[in-house]
Amino acid sequence: MKVLVTGAAGFIGSYISRALVWRGDNVVGLDNFNDYYPRNCKEFNVDLTRLSDLQAPQIFEESEIRPVFDKLEDYYGGKKEDKPGTFTFYEGDITDYDFLNGLFEKEKPEAVIHLAAMAGVPYSTKNPRIYTYVNVDGTTNLLTLSKDYNIRKFVFGSSSSVYGNREDKKVTEQDDVSKAVSVYGASKVAGEVICHAFNVIFGLPVVIDRIFGPIYGPLQRPYGMFHQRAVNYTYNGKKIKVYGKYGLKTAKDSTYIDDQVEGILECLDSNFLFDVFNTGTSEPLQIQTWIESVETAFGKKLEAEVVEVDTSDVVSSADISKAQKMLNYSPKMNMYEGVKRQVDVFKLMPEWYKTMEKV
Ligand SMILES: NC(=O)c1ccc[n+]([C@@H]2O[C@H](COP(=O)([O-])OP(=O)(O)OC[C@H]3O[C@@H](n4cnc5c(N)ncnc54)[C@H](O)[C@@H]3O)[C@@H](O)[C@H]2O)c1
Repeated sequence: MKVLVTGAAGFIGSYISRALVWRGDNVVGLDNFNDYYPRNCKEFNVDLTRLSDLQAPQIFEESEIRPVFDKLEDYYGGKKEDKPGTFTFYEGDITDYDFLNGLFEKEKPEAVIHLAAMAGVPYSTKNPRIYTYVNVDGTTNLLTLSKDYNIRKFVFGSSSSVYGNREDKKVTEQDDVSKAVSVYGASKVAGEVICHAFNVIFGLPVVIDRIFGPIYGPLQRPYGMFHQRAVNYTYNGKKIKVYGKYGLKTAKDSTYIDDQVEGILECLDSNFLFDVFNTGTSEPLQIQTWIESVETAFGKKLEAEVVEVDTSDVVSSADISKAQKMLNYSPKMNMYEGVKRQVDVFKLMPEWYKTMEKV
């Protein structure tokens, strides 16, 4: 199957692209390399995916990337074909309708996994309009073309942020999503609602995946993600600042990247005409535990200081029973092992991480 993956240079999108290629699908990757975090990080992700396509011309120096690729391939426990699929990459913007139209016309994808987005909550408070422009208008462009080109399945990468602050119980897919408490969360709610309308009006098959983060694992998105900062700070012997609603006891339903990839692929492969699934772990772990897992992986202490209790921080945990039952979704990773993998890949290229000044 030919699958258009938007946000293919990002953390999750690059993992999804490789998994699809490994299992024999042909991927058309799209990303605009926005400046939310450094371009070289995203280019590295794209080059890693190019390596998974054995037919692709390799246009980069392999010395640094090959050991990372080998580890990621080793870690991936999903389906793999002897004859992998292909990867074709386009740099372009989902808000540019004419560009997108040309891409659909040329490539004729059969399915879309839509992960391109302005991600991250705090940045959305400072820059609300870019969030609605990309996450709502960009999504509408993709849905319009998916309808016009008779796409077989549209998977929308949504977020636990649609639930707002719901620490009272594990959230289920039936819960109210009209009370987002961030512009990011609100933009994802809007994306979901437009997906629903396209399904009802045009019969476009859509599955919405409410991703519970922070997603962690090797090459985690570098900015705004605690695990990656903790890895860098431990390596560099620096004291880390902790934000969060309950300081070190703040707990998040943090999912390992390959478990999340499995959930997204199960959404893609499902036969539902429209449905919504939570994919998380349902077992939130405290920041204290995240720190301990990084310390264990390095065999070295990390000094942490709670600088500010962030009362606007949102806490929610997923009820994943629907995905378990209907998608066969089954997250497996133990946090200590997942963080060890993140640290092991970091150790292959600590100098490269120094090029990211904010981490
Ligand atoms: N990482 C998490 O913990 C998490 C949790 C919940 C939901 N999500 C969702 O999953 C998706 C992927 O997240 P990620 O962590 O990989 O983030 P990411 O920032 O690494 O990836 C998103 C990619 O989208 C691209 N992009 C942004 N605007 C674009 C545009 N206008 N046109 C084309 N490309 C554009 C970016 O350049 C980036 O490479 C996002 O939709 C995000 O909201 C992520």
